[in-house]
Amino acid sequence: MDIKLASTAGFCFGVKRAVDTVYTEIEKSREENTNIYTFGPIIHNEQVVEDLKSQGVKVIESLEELNDCPQGTVIIRSHGVSKSEYDTISKKGFEIIDATCPFVKKIHNTVFEKSKDGYDIIIIGNENHPEVLGIKGWSLRKTTVIGNEEEASDFVCEKDAKLCVVSQTTFNYKKFNKLVEILGKKLYDIIVVNTICNATNERQLEARQIASSVDTMIVIGGKTSSNTQKLYEICSEECIDTHYIQTSEDLKEMKLLPSSKVIGITAGASTPKNIIEEVQNNVRIKF
Ligand code: F3S
Repeated sequence: MDIKLASTAGFCFGVKRAVDTVYTEIEKSREENTNIYTFGPIIHNEQVVEDLKSQGVKVIESLEELNDCPQGTVIIRSHGVSKSEYDTISKKGFEIIDATCPFVKKIHNTVFEKSKDGYDIIIIGNENHPEVLGIKGWSLRKTTVIGNEEEASDFVCEKDAKLCVVSQTTFNYKKFNKLVEILGKKLYDIIVVNTICNATNERQLEARQIASSVDTMIVIGGKTSSNTQKLYEICSEECIDTHYIQTSEDLKEMKLLPSSKVIGITAGASTPKNIIEEVQNNVRIKF
């Protein structure tokens, strides 16, 4: 049995960096005996969050919760947070380790600087996403989140306003261009900074390419992970024998087509490397 493992399977650069940061801090805390908190789960993967918990890391869901927590270190996850959240944590006396993805940090800086220069901010993205809420919180001026064509068409502001448009990092590139085109027709003084990160796109392109060249495709990721569901959809379009699994345990139930000779494997952005390796090894043993 041949196996083709996607090189982009699993964590992107920013998520890996954030998860590694927590493990490094755990090591340090052993010597210094400090408390470690993450502001929100560091990643949407139960196994990883449980493992961190078992090593003493506490997940904080709100700033108020910190009032009842002994002093320690708060780790900011890759999505980033708003400036006021950052300041509040600091004022409460906690040390901050900022694991915001550098690509997201760059958007914070752009929004902060441009709003300081008198630009109103438009964020193309999903207004409830934590990354977008964080970006919004770095603007010093009016900020509007636009997520679809209707919102772009309805957008109005002062004719002499200066606008700076940025994007949520995981936003669809084609959709971003379409929305920018609609905004551009309104004749405002507008600058557009494309802040879409390629990691998601590259993972999807590679998944499609592998799925189209194998007999069976395995997609690994949490059942509720929207980016894994998307990967599954893409792979199913290319390969009729596509399976969605969460861990190597699920391989027990899996049956291959009798003609299957080549298996492809990819994984969503929050699937840890050890789970991917385990699946790869067990596929070799089982089939
Ligand atoms: Fe990941 Fe950072 Fe891109 S978190 S998806 S590498 S913006």
